[in-house]
Amino acid sequence: MQINLIEQYQQVRNQSIQLSAPLSSADMCIQSMADASPTRWHLAHTSWFFETVILKNHLTEYTPVNSDYNYLFNSYYNGIGNQFPRAQRGTQTRPSIEEIMDYRKTIDQQMLKLLDGEFSDQVNFLTQLGLHHEQQHQELMLTDIKHAFSLNPTYPQYQPSTEQTQQQAERLSWLSVDESVYQIGHMGSTFCYDNELPMHNAYVYPCKIASRLITNQEYQAFVHDKGYHTATLWLSDGWDWCRNISKHHPLYWLRKDDQWFEFTLNGLQPLQPHQPVTHINYYEAEAFARWAGKRLPTEYEWEVAARQYGAQTGNFVNSGKLHPQISADTQFLGDCWEWTSSSYSAYPGYKPFAGAVGEYNGKFMCNQYVLRGGSCATPEDHIRFSYRNFFYPHQRWQFTGIRLAEDD
Ligand SMILES: [Fe+2]
Repeated sequence: MQINLIEQYQQVRNQSIQLSAPLSSADMCIQSMADASPTRWHLAHTSWFFETVILKNHLTEYTPVNSDYNYLFNSYYNGIGNQFPRAQRGTQTRPSIEEIMDYRKTIDQQMLKLLDGEFSDQVNFLTQLGLHHEQQHQELMLTDIKHAFSLNPTYPQYQPSTEQTQQQAERLSWLSVDESVYQIGHMGSTFCYDNELPMHNAYVYPCKIASRLITNQEYQAFVHDKGYHTATLWLSDGWDWCRNISKHHPLYWLRKDDQWFEFTLNGLQPLQPHQPVTHINYYEAEAFARWAGKRLPTEYEWEVAARQYGAQTGNFVNSGKLHPQISADTQFLGDCWEWTSSSYSAYPGYKPFAGAVGEYNGKFMCNQYVLRGGSCATPEDHIRFSYRNFFYPHQRWQFTGIRLAEDD
């Protein structure tokens, strides 16, 4: 058990370094909008998390690396202390990248010292939490640098293109979910976040869920049908959002010489018609569903269908393909996070994690929507059927897409 945890620790921590390897020191300091953070901040904050919730409390005679870091690298934990303003993270170049890398090394040495001896169940749990937390930030490292690079008119590549065979999208079919009471939430004793618990019963009415995500080509039909200019398709808040954007298409699409392109982590590429449409916000997903005469699934419908029909897919990050691809298999996990129509709220009997990490999930249960499934930028072992991601309805810089549903 201890060896496994040490190996897991080293693998996850090393993966963050690997993901930052293609970036220059200047790249690592950039913050392109308030929602995104610089790579250097992600690398430091994830280390601060281990230092603050584990080392300071569980390693005897531990001395913090730098007393300023608690303010600079605390994200949102009010119980721990004040935070440097999120929107200004990109104004900082010190501590330098080298100092942050040294900080990571010191934290790793101290964590491995702790994990090499006898440690409590609480240290075991908090270490796993720290690793899953770091995996969340690994996805953000990719989506945040993608956003920053997208604003550069030279369209830099995070990594060079790889040869990709263009597959036809499978025919969209409809998967039936029977009316019944189902168990929802995390099952078993493996790690999960507090918001996936407790497992509970939920009544689901008969419905059908699409066998795959909506493709670029299908979304193009919505764009060309003046979807972004038809008020009746949009929620009121969505229409307000729509009227305030200048480009009426998905975030990274670009029209050039009468042809559609898409900005990807491999730079600007011709839009691939059969790949899932991505970087869609809740308003766009909802409007598209209405235009198509369908709706978005609830998170309960999604989870029931995924457990019944879903098959886990590989992690495209590790295979070097950083853009979602269609698989021939029916899949629910691994291309794009999928918007559901469910507001992000507590399951019946929900209890936040104890202590300072109680602020991890619960306090965000207001005005956000649940996304399910995981994306091509999510580490593979961070994906599970019960996972509940959540974002505000206007946000679209994550790899987010559309799976339709309908009443049966
Ligand atoms: Fe965090």
